[in-house]
Amino acid sequence: MSEGSTAEGSTTAPNPLRDPRDRRLPRVAGPCGMVIFGVTGDLARKKLMPAIYDLSNRGLLPPGFALVGFARRTWADEDFMQVVHDAVKEHSRTPFREEVWANLAYGIRFVPGDFSDDAAFARLRETIDELDRDRGTLGNHAFYLSVPPKFFPDVIRQLKHHGLAEAPDGSWRRVVIEKPFGHDLKSAQELNRVVGEVFESGSVFRIDHYLGKETVQNILAMRFSNELFEPIWNANYVDHVQITMAEDVGIGGRAGYYDGIGAARDVIQNHLLQLLALTAMEEPVSFAAASVRIEKEKVLSAVRLPADLGDASARGQYAAGWQGGVPVVGYLDEEGISPDSTTETYAALQLDIDTRRWAGVPWFLRTGKRLGRRVTEVAVVFKRAPHLPFEQTATAELGQNALVIRVQPDEGLALRFGSKVPGTAMEVRDVTMDFAYGETFTESSPEAYERLILDVLIGEAPLFPRHEEVELAWQILDPVEEFWAGQGQPEPYAAGTWGPPSANGMMARTNRTWRRP
Ligand code: BG6
Repeated sequence: MSEGSTAEGSTTAPNPLRDPRDRRLPRVAGPCGMVIFGVTGDLARKKLMPAIYDLSNRGLLPPGFALVGFARRTWADEDFMQVVHDAVKEHSRTPFREEVWANLAYGIRFVPGDFSDDAAFARLRETIDELDRDRGTLGNHAFYLSVPPKFFPDVIRQLKHHGLAEAPDGSWRRVVIEKPFGHDLKSAQELNRVVGEVFESGSVFRIDHYLGKETVQNILAMRFSNELFEPIWNANYVDHVQITMAEDVGIGGRAGYYDGIGAARDVIQNHLLQLLALTAMEEPVSFAAASVRIEKEKVLSAVRLPADLGDASARGQYAAGWQGGVPVVGYLDEEGISPDSTTETYAALQLDIDTRRWAGVPWFLRTGKRLGRRVTEVAVVFKRAPHLPFEQTATAELGQNALVIRVQPDEGLALRFGSKVPGTAMEVRDVTMDFAYGETFTESSPEAYERLILDVLIGEAPLFPRHEEVELAWQILDPVEEFWAGQGQPEPYAAGTWGPPSANGMMARTNRTWRRP
């Protein structure tokens, strides 16, 4: 999206002194503040506060930026300041600099209260008015809902009730909503309705932090800035696509959130379906929010579930095992999990995309906790050459060509193809050509939340799913959840392995295997 153009409904005025084509000038947020609801949570501490500091350190926030925390704690501004300070020191990406911190700290405020407390929201309003007067935030504020989803409607209604959702003339108010956006289609629609009654669509930013990752945006750069890939990016050449998001960690202290949600709702509904959409979509006419979103929606609306979900899906639950040389407990023994929980910690699913480009190409999605290692990748696996003019023994070590987009860690791209083994005989074996971000660029990638928070403050929306996308994703997942609900206990898999045997069976039935990332 070009400089100066903003999300629908935004009132940010373009800077007349800036040339939007000049890439030397960073995109900088104008006068504004952010209110975070749920500042005592992990996300706020580990990601949001550090990202705000990192943005400030990179000079991308206005000098008078204000950060307001809202939570049920009897803290004074100074106590909250200390919390932010500690979070920044521990988790920020860029070095800690006293002068940056001191400037940021000036704009930090805390409002104690819970979501049903009218007096607290009145205090929030006073705080914002005070910041507009003294700190120069000019009425521009983003409200970040980093709270358990059941509170989304309460906070939104309170914002309306206290006149906080309404932007004074010439300013803006935006709302940022963390996932999960609903737990099925119906609840997502209901939430969209509640949000839509208070904020107009251009002011609503639904977070899918995967879209903030550099390597995820690079899928678009790679596909649409090169001539090389597009001609083979279709059913004529592609055999299948595997999208993997594996984590080595368990659920940590998130039992309350995770139990009853499970791997598919937590990750497939958002991150993996977004990766699928970016990999499968047609070229957008521009990178403006509306154009990108419309192409993603077309793909998502063409996704079809296989007829037999028993054959085409798998789910598992981690049992005790070893992780990094340390024994770890199984899911059912995690603190806060009931011993008969049927929540899956591993989910795999085959999808088809009913378009001319992708007809007959299966897409395999899998995610899990306590797997072999932490890795997220998209592997586009190509068909075998139709004819191999070699002795059969010469190509025994030749697999299928593959292009692997490594989202994390070791961000980069790998291309696998066959090559002659040096020697007097003709023998062909798989080799890999590799591009690694870390080796090619000196600048390290910003954290996803830095990019996304900056986009919210600037009012740029292409990296935020709109409500149609979120609903389409639930429409895909709902029948799977319904099917699993009748299947009893998920299949156990030992921590540190690559998931339940049924996931391998699901691939084997199509004569394919999962890659070992
Ligand atoms: C979150 C999920 O969206 O993504 C978590 O709720 C998961 O369960 C996390 O751990 C992983 O994010 P990343 O960026 O480390 O891949």
